[in-house]
Amino acid sequence: MPVTICLHFETHCLAGNLNKRYSVSMEEKKRVLMSLKSKKRARRSREIPPKESDDIEDISFSKDETLQIRASLLEWYDENQRDLPWRRISGGSDERDKRGYAVWVSEVMLQQTRVSTVIDYFKRWMNKWPTLHHLAQASLEEVNEMWAGLGYYRRVRFLLQGAKEVVEEGGSFPETVSELRKIKGIGEYTAGAIASIAFKKVVPVVDGNVVRVISRLKAISANPKDTATVKSFWKLAGQLVDPCRPGDFNQALMELGATLCSLSNPGCAVCPISAQCHALSLSRQNESVHVSDYPTKVVKAKQRHEFSAVSVVEILDCQEMTGSQSNSKYILVKRPNEGLLAGLWEFPSILLEKEADLASRRKAIDNFLQSSLNLDLKESTRIVSREDIGEFVHVFSHIRLKMYVELLVLHPKGNRSIEDEKLDKESITWKYVDGKNLDSMGLTSGVRKVYTMVQKHKQTEQATIPGRRRKTAVRR
Ligand code: ADE
Repeated sequence: MPVTICLHFETHCLAGNLNKRYSVSMEEKKRVLMSLKSKKRARRSREIPPKESDDIEDISFSKDETLQIRASLLEWYDENQRDLPWRRISGGSDERDKRGYAVWVSEVMLQQTRVSTVIDYFKRWMNKWPTLHHLAQASLEEVNEMWAGLGYYRRVRFLLQGAKEVVEEGGSFPETVSELRKIKGIGEYTAGAIASIAFKKVVPVVDGNVVRVISRLKAISANPKDTATVKSFWKLAGQLVDPCRPGDFNQALMELGATLCSLSNPGCAVCPISAQCHALSLSRQNESVHVSDYPTKVVKAKQRHEFSAVSVVEILDCQEMTGSQSNSKYILVKRPNEGLLAGLWEFPSILLEKEADLASRRKAIDNFLQSSLNLDLKESTRIVSREDIGEFVHVFSHIRLKMYVELLVLHPKGNRSIEDEKLDKESITWKYVDGKNLDSMGLTSGVRKVYTMVQKHKQTEQATIPGRRRKTAVRR
């Protein structure tokens, strides 16, 4: 194990009293009492309404606290850190760009989902695009497909754009926060993570886990979404970051928040920095205070309710009428290049103004197929079956989308191939995809849910009527 000798003066005075109990000053007591009063009021309604500010600018870590937190947290991290693939890239200078790239990819993925899910995505990604230069050659279609299921596709679009930018400008990986911030899609958090983890720059990171740990350490009850409060969390994280091992320290803080210092069930008994935790100290003084009261829970903005009709249009092979998947093609439509799920493929769908009955939904779908895909159901196809197969709610951060799903099985009329009808109208791009390819395609989780629904529906039908051949049927 290489030993790093750190010359930063603060690290020499590692407090001998690591386990010293935290004592509360008068000023602190006053602040805490005020915070308790507002908590009491708020607990009656379960959720604490957002508050403007709690004089948070005045809060800071003393030198002693800082040293104790750094030492205890790093010791804990050295013993408990998770073995993650992006942490295995060596610190050698020849690996510098690779480290920057790997941290970038992993951090963007980690903003989407939990660590355990990211591991496989990360390995697949690095296998396909092992360096920034490989990624810069990729198409949007390819990265979207690799990202399928992680959600928030704007992030991966920016990642690709950012990779192209860096390569175009000479290809050397920027390593300071200010240089990194110039790259498309890299914000304060990602810049801090890359600069500290890959390049040992002494800069903080603040994500939801860090906010939780710091708000407990300092018993901060101000609204964590408030701009002034966010600024203060960055300032406090900046005070804490270890000058010798900034990347490890930042990861330790995030890891503590993700594991022991959890949202509703914190493991204070085994927490390495419990001696410095004001929230824990308060909870011991007053039984109505709980560590999990911090950070303040903010009432979320109401989600918009939207409704859409989705038509899974299955085209049977000219010769075959069995409807078996191997002979079927499905229509996929590309979403507009701007807005929600920009540029991604989905089954034909139409946003409804409000909840609509079956007849109105079908009418909306028929109009869409006719006007956007030039597909006239009566003229050029025979409807083999049209079934309403269910509905589900797909939740985006700000939208609750209720999707009504139908399976529309078509057969081209006469000798005409349905391909004849394929006309790209100005703004709509669409394609046919073989059923067997659809299984292995990277699909967004909403589209995947719809497709799974269709498959389950078919299995149920086949199980109830074995050997059933499709016949023309238009039913609910
Ligand atoms: N959460 C996000 N990024 C992380 C990292 N690098 N280590 C631990 N937890 C994280």
